[in-house]
Amino acid sequence: MSPAPSGRPLVVGLFGASGRMGERVRSALPAHPGLVLGPCIDRDAPASLDFGGVDVVVDFSLPEATAPLFERMGGRPLPLVSGVTGRDADARARLDAHAAVAPVLWASNFSLGVALLRRLVTRAAAAINWDAEVFELHHRRKADAPSGTALTLAEAVADGRDLPWPASARAPRGAGARQPGEIGVSALRGGDVVGEHTVFFCGEGERVELTHRATDRSVFAHGALRAAAWLVGRAPGHHTLDAVLGVDT
Ligand SMILES: NC(=O)c1ccc[n+]([C@@H]2O[C@H](COP(=O)([O-])OP(=O)(O)OC[C@H]3O[C@@H](n4cnc5c(N)ncnc54)[C@H](OP(=O)(O)O)[C@@H]3O)[C@@H](O)[C@H]2O)c1
Repeated sequence: MSPAPSGRPLVVGLFGASGRMGERVRSALPAHPGLVLGPCIDRDAPASLDFGGVDVVVDFSLPEATAPLFERMGGRPLPLVSGVTGRDADARARLDAHAAVAPVLWASNFSLGVALLRRLVTRAAAAINWDAEVFELHHRRKADAPSGTALTLAEAVADGRDLPWPASARAPRGAGARQPGEIGVSALRGGDVVGEHTVFFCGEGERVELTHRATDRSVFAHGALRAAAWLVGRAPGHHTLDAVLGVDT
């Protein structure tokens, strides 16, 4: 972790603070002794509350809150950790613009298990040229589909096979026969499922399934806070969770 220059704890500003993930971040924070909680902002926060005085911003809001996020940052080049999925090209461009002046770490999934799964998927995709399909299952209130993690896993298949990305994705998978080389992505919504992802490799007479099941959102919160501590003091640009976890070689 990168302590503040004075050795004091780093102040974390939280955006999307009252949401499911925001709550998990707040309850996970005491387990990170180098971090303290600063301003917590959601839709109803007073307009006067901003991220002045914070060392790093953690964002678990929604795609449509991207403009308000940067308003609350007030043009400051603050390190930004974001776990928001489903952003459109314009919203992603706002993150790119911020990365020109500050360190940014966006990840579709902050769990260690999914970081491992992604690497296994790339290796399996390279090793066997069976039909690859990604399936994900989430709770009934998740708005975006397919999940950002499912798209990340489909991209991992493309990486392993040197397929063009995102041109090789069929997301969401619709009707019609499978085309050679395509990577289908399917989603299901229901109940209180925290998040399940399976990558199927389907051959003739056999198949391999690689699955990750998250049972507690706190794994994402701890991953994001670990990333926040790591990001402070880094150079401007996009950084990866693999670098935080030390698995980027
Ligand atoms: N990367 C990961 O590991 C990971 C893991 C889980 C989830 N996620 C993603 O994280 C995001 C949040 O998920 P969630 O389940 O926590 O969602 P959620 O419960 O709906 O929470 C969303 C939060 O964003 C706030 N918000 C929405 N619009 C806003 C606006 N215009 N201005 C300010 N704040 C606004 C909401 O505030 P109000 O309550 O006041 O509306 C709420 O605090 C989603 O994109 C989800 O896919 C990522």
